Amino acid sequence: MSSSDSTTLLGAAAAGACAAILSAKILQPPTPTTAASPSVQAQPAAGGGGGAGGDRGSGLGIHTTQEDQTDPVTVCVSGAAGQIGYSLIPLLCSGAVFGETTPVYLRLLDVKQGMEAMRGIAMELEDASYPLLRDVYTTCDYSVAFTGVDVVVLVGGMPRREGMERSDLIGINSKIFHGMGVVLNEVADPSVKVLVVANPANTNCRTLIKSCPKIPATNFSALTRLDHNRAKSLTARRVNWTTRLQTGAGGRAEGVVTDTNRVAPNDVKNVIIWGNHSQVQYPDLNHAVVMLRSHRPAPVRSMLDTEWIEGEFVTTVQQRGAKVIQARGASSALSAAAAIAGHLNDWLHGTQEGEFVSMAIDSTGNPYGVPDGLVFSFPVICSGGEYSIVEDLYIDPRSRDMIEKNVADLAVEWNAAQAALNAKL
Ligand SMILES: NC(=O)c1ccc[n+]([C@@H]2O[C@H](COP(=O)([O-])OP(=O)(O)OC[C@H]3O[C@@H](n4cnc5c(N)ncnc54)[C@H](O)[C@@H]3O)[C@@H](O)[C@H]2O)c1
Repeated sequence: MSSSDSTTLLGAAAAGACAAILSAKILQPPTPTTAASPSVQAQPAAGGGGGAGGDRGSGLGIHTTQEDQTDPVTVCVSGAAGQIGYSLIPLLCSGAVFGETTPVYLRLLDVKQGMEAMRGIAMELEDASYPLLRDVYTTCDYSVAFTGVDVVVLVGGMPRREGMERSDLIGINSKIFHGMGVVLNEVADPSVKVLVVANPANTNCRTLIKSCPKIPATNFSALTRLDHNRAKSLTARRVNWTTRLQTGAGGRAEGVVTDTNRVAPNDVKNVIIWGNHSQVQYPDLNHAVVMLRSHRPAPVRSMLDTEWIEGEFVTTVQQRGAKVIQARGASSALSAAAAIAGHLNDWLHGTQEGEFVSMAIDSTGNPYGVPDGLVFSFPVICSGGEYSIVEDLYIDPRSRDMIEKNVADLAVEWNAAQAALNAKL
């Protein structure tokens, strides 16, 4: 099959495929059993039988490489035609997320109006010749997108429009995520791992969990890694700035950091984002450390002033997304994609020794007094494809108060979701 054949098939799918979302008809997506050369395919029209799916593997010049010795991963990205999708998909194909020897099968999902844009992305992926990319399949049918996948990244959702109330946005997205959840529950393997990015991410994730009784709640998470990364980066900048001031004044920072020995974001470990991915989130530096060049960890609290830690730091992280929109005229995409890649990489391959990261997960059984059943961001470590909450961290009264505010914020969101779904969940 030549590229021009693919293009024709994609065009046909764009024209006729998407009624299949409503019928939730299970089509036959390609199942990666052998490693084929990269091919670009589109969903066959509902009921059409065969179509591009039927073509898979026929005379495609199947090849085997050293890399194919690792099991392939099939990953679905929803909202693939959007701006985060455009930054994320290359990372998924590059080996940065799933490993440098893991072949990747891509399912790109968007609404029907996104099919043409996905066709363009599929062509670009073909042109980029990623060595690990085995297959690209574009669809607007949840059943096709979710059947047989190992990892699902749910980026797609309704964006907030001018004049739209937050509760309306939550309601619309709850319906979308409930619909996705029903299909996911029906067609996906219970071992699938699902990351929710679309906002309101925590509440969308909770809706999804409730709609997917077959899949363990521990297989779901929502993204707060972008906030976590922002907190690290901001802290590193502040440490460098403070140290410059101190050393410039002949101050006490000798042996800590110097201008020629700057702290990088990755030298800052164990920041925490607690709660909701909203402006109420609580970025916490109480347990954070800076890894000095001597490999000695220095508590951030010993390096930076309390007023900044409890004031400007918190509001800057909380409002960073809005500032990016103001400056760029569009919401964070490049940094969101990097955060998704980091989140997935840690979840699948484990966190670094001695380091924890932030993930929004099912709160049931947590040791910090957060009510069960919420999707709440906690400090976690990951190992063997599982995450666990870091225990025994001291929570001071101010932090307790901030955590409670997040519990309340999530309750408001959940009420709006329940109202939209007529308390279905
Ligand atoms: N959790 C986080 O840290 C974080 C960070 C940045 C952005 N976000 C959120 O990520 C989402 C995507 O952001 P973006 O900038 O890529 O938006 P975008 O508008 O550029 O793209 C969204 C895409 O989703 C598609 N879509 C809409 N409904 C869909 C559905 N039901 N099924 C499949 N696809 C659907 C749209 O057609 C569009 O292509 C937004 O909700 C945004 O608020 C979250």
